[in-house]
Amino acid sequence: MMANALQNLGFSIWMDKENIKPGGNFLREISNAFLHCGAFILILSKEAMESPWVEIEIATAVSQKLPLIPFKIDKEPLSTEFSVALKCSQYIDASDGFQKGMKYLIETLQSIDMRDADNNFDIRLELQQLPEQIVLNPTQTIIKRIENKYNTVRFKTQERLRLQGEMFSQYNKPIYDELFESLEDAIVLDIGCNNGNNIYRDIGNRENCRKIIGIDCSKEVYEQAVDNYQDTKLTPLLVDCENENFEQNIFKIMKDNSIEGFDLVIISMVLLHLKAPLKVLKSARKFLKKGGRIFIRDIDDGLIVTYPDPQDLLKKAKDIDYKLLHTGVRHCGREIFSLLKASGFHNIKSCGESIDTINKDYDERYTMFFANFSYITENIEDMIKMFPNSEEFRKYLEWAKDNIDEIEIMFQSDSFFFKMGTVVFVAEK
Ligand SMILES: C[S@@+](CC[C@H](N)C(=O)[O-])C[C@H]1O[C@@H](n2cnc3c(N)ncnc32)[C@H](O)[C@@H]1O
Repeated sequence: MMANALQNLGFSIWMDKENIKPGGNFLREISNAFLHCGAFILILSKEAMESPWVEIEIATAVSQKLPLIPFKIDKEPLSTEFSVALKCSQYIDASDGFQKGMKYLIETLQSIDMRDADNNFDIRLELQQLPEQIVLNPTQTIIKRIENKYNTVRFKTQERLRLQGEMFSQYNKPIYDELFESLEDAIVLDIGCNNGNNIYRDIGNRENCRKIIGIDCSKEVYEQAVDNYQDTKLTPLLVDCENENFEQNIFKIMKDNSIEGFDLVIISMVLLHLKAPLKVLKSARKFLKKGGRIFIRDIDDGLIVTYPDPQDLLKKAKDIDYKLLHTGVRHCGREIFSLLKASGFHNIKSCGESIDTINKDYDERYTMFFANFSYITENIEDMIKMFPNSEEFRKYLEWAKDNIDEIEIMFQSDSFFFKMGTVVFVAEK
């Protein structure tokens, strides 16, 4: 039950009972499994405390510095050995309610820095015994900051990025003007460059921009970028910034291209899709030369203003949006200042702006609608694929199909006001 719920939320799971074939070497397979997972959930029960295997597993997890999350399912007091062994781990008490325990478990998985797995599986689930009657309602909690790569390449997604990029471009311009003012022959790293169109439009034609290394983890958009930008100053590369070899990869690229340090790192609309943004920012800082700067644009729906919305249509659409997996962390903007500080940047400046419907023509208002609401229907369809039996998601889809045109019409009315939730930060190494 737990495994299903976690798998439905996008985790890959390793369980000894499922994964070890009859006749397999239990000890070797278990130690091998530990090497390849990002966290270890220990289902803690009387039975588990009596199992010698569990002791070995705890010792292995501790020695490998693997995040260990004990999940206690019965009222049996912790034995002295287990109290000592687990003294560094705050356990989740699910003995009074499995559902509540699952909620904490998911929150914990969201908040811990999972060890990078080799993409084999995220979680090692030690399964001793589980209550049968519990089903995690898939619409209650959706994991964010975990396996949330925004790399689906659909026409609508790409069109949205194009329109959104064109809109942001005019607001980015004065910020880039200032950043490039003091630069000569600048070398830039763009993390999550997609097909390269937006970064090239923004900085590709600047004379003092010599080279742009654009990385993306999606093979499809990387191939588009290669087709579009061969023999230009933009070099697209297929690199995942959340891969454990990220730093090594970029240092190698720097060496191969004789780059001592970047003048500027750009991360636009990517942090909201990352599992561990702090780690990526810490690495980004290392790639910069002394005095080099970082430009971050991201989203914060807390800044959205919609007025009037008498039927709460936009509110309902957003409420649905937050239950969908590919949506990303829509409150990411407010975290950026602290993330930059924690990763060692200084001179952190928020380049505030208001992108709203005032003074905008039909096309610009359409872009605002398209950037903020067009993707919801597709994302609900994705969720239905993941949870085919979910009545909730079907209802959401019906609602979205019935109301999305109405929302689009609202954006065209002069009596309607909408302010987007985006932020831009610039900081120095
Ligand atoms: C919303 S798009 C933004 C594209 C572009 N930066 C812009 O501002 O228009 C996010 C991009 O980040 C890429 N991305 C997401 N996770 C990534 C990761 N871990 N490593 C590299 N790229 C990633 C996605 O494939 C996608 O192309």
